[in-house]
Amino acid sequence: MGYFVGVLGHAAASPGLDRASPGRIESAPFDYNPLSKQVQDDPYPFYRRLTADYPLYHNPGMGFWALSRYDDVRAAFRDWRTYSSAEGVNLEPGFTEMIGPEILNMDPPRHDQLRRLIGHHFTLSRVRSYEPMVREFAVRLLTALIAEGGGDFAADFAGRLPVLTICRLMGIPLEDEATVRSLAHDMLLALSGSDEHQATSAAAGKELSGYFASQVSRRRDSPGDDLISSLANGRIEGEPLPAEEIFGMCLIVYLAGNTTTSALISNGLLCLARHPEQRAALSGDPGLIENAVEELLRYESPVQWSSRVTTRMVAMHGLEVPAGERVMLLIGAAQRDPREWEDPDSLDVRRPPQRLLAFGDGVHRCVGAPLARLEGRVAFEEVFRRMPSYSLAGEPQRVYISTERGLAGLPLAV
Ligand code: HEM
Repeated sequence: MGYFVGVLGHAAASPGLDRASPGRIESAPFDYNPLSKQVQDDPYPFYRRLTADYPLYHNPGMGFWALSRYDDVRAAFRDWRTYSSAEGVNLEPGFTEMIGPEILNMDPPRHDQLRRLIGHHFTLSRVRSYEPMVREFAVRLLTALIAEGGGDFAADFAGRLPVLTICRLMGIPLEDEATVRSLAHDMLLALSGSDEHQATSAAAGKELSGYFASQVSRRRDSPGDDLISSLANGRIEGEPLPAEEIFGMCLIVYLAGNTTTSALISNGLLCLARHPEQRAALSGDPGLIENAVEELLRYESPVQWSSRVTTRMVAMHGLEVPAGERVMLLIGAAQRDPREWEDPDSLDVRRPPQRLLAFGDGVHRCVGAPLARLEGRVAFEEVFRRMPSYSLAGEPQRVYISTERGLAGLPLAV
């Protein structure tokens, strides 16, 4: 994997944090490759090393820097002028172009204008009104699995609840749900960390854009109060949106809320199966579920990282990152940073809530966070009501999307 140079920010034993050895280049390589299977299988040993010894890591071979400490990651998320999203937020080449222009890959002012067009679908009061619908979906999916004595809860529960929900919000007919879900799945293969799926992914991306194009033209003829109608008929400074922005926005809203929320639910089911004392606490006191969702978002962050490109030279930890460099913001590491969290590697559903980075921060802070929290809470409430003593019935399968941590398969018996 080429050669790697680790830039040592401070000695591991130095609790004085930023007493860096300026610019010291460690000759013994520390290889952190976020696209590798090894890292995707278990990133935490890498994160511990990065936050302790390499708070500003540089991988010249792969062309990125990485921030891993909570304060650094949060500050970078909040400073869009220095850390720009305009060149995309993924490491894999081509993915940004495939999606087209959309808010995740933009800076203000265009970012803010587009975000305002969809924001009203995700306000707290609007999201509260979705609860009966989300609960009905959750109950329907769980009832089918329970009738079978169990099944794959990643594919058939966690993977479907967010998709059904977002289809309703966007106005996608439920009979199209399976097709759209499968196309989105194939499209995300571009982020699997391997080159072998690029053609499949590109073809799926094209087909999905075509699908959204047909939905958009229907909304122009007969608008509803759904999210696609807001984009199809929205105006910014009196002008309609260019077609590629409408498709980009449809794609990002559809993609951003699905595998992520599905990961929150499937990670949570697995973590609680592996921590029976935590599960017992929740079964005994369902009022704790809301807090448990926060802790699960911290402990196994569905989005592990995002990235930005510097617009100016940044000096930190005794080093200089030139303008035009890609910097990874390691959410998964920051949320286990011992400088911010007590006993960070322990799952504790009673942990007092603190500021999370699971939904990012700053202008790009997840617009769907209230919806994700609602889906997580409802999912766990219904699980604990209907199948409190579920058990693992096989090996869980990890999902390989480089930015995310979630499950492709989770066999449970009920
Ligand atoms: C547990 C579930 C979720 C997690 C962990 C999550 C995480 C994130 C993160 C970290 C970002 C910021 C990325 C960056 O700054 O580079 C983000 C942005 C975004 N998320 Fe979520 N998300 C979740 C659910 C959702 C849902 C349910 C929706 C909508 C249906 C959604 C839609 C979006 C959109 C549109 C953006 C872009 C916002 C912007 O650029 O202004 N997400 N999400």
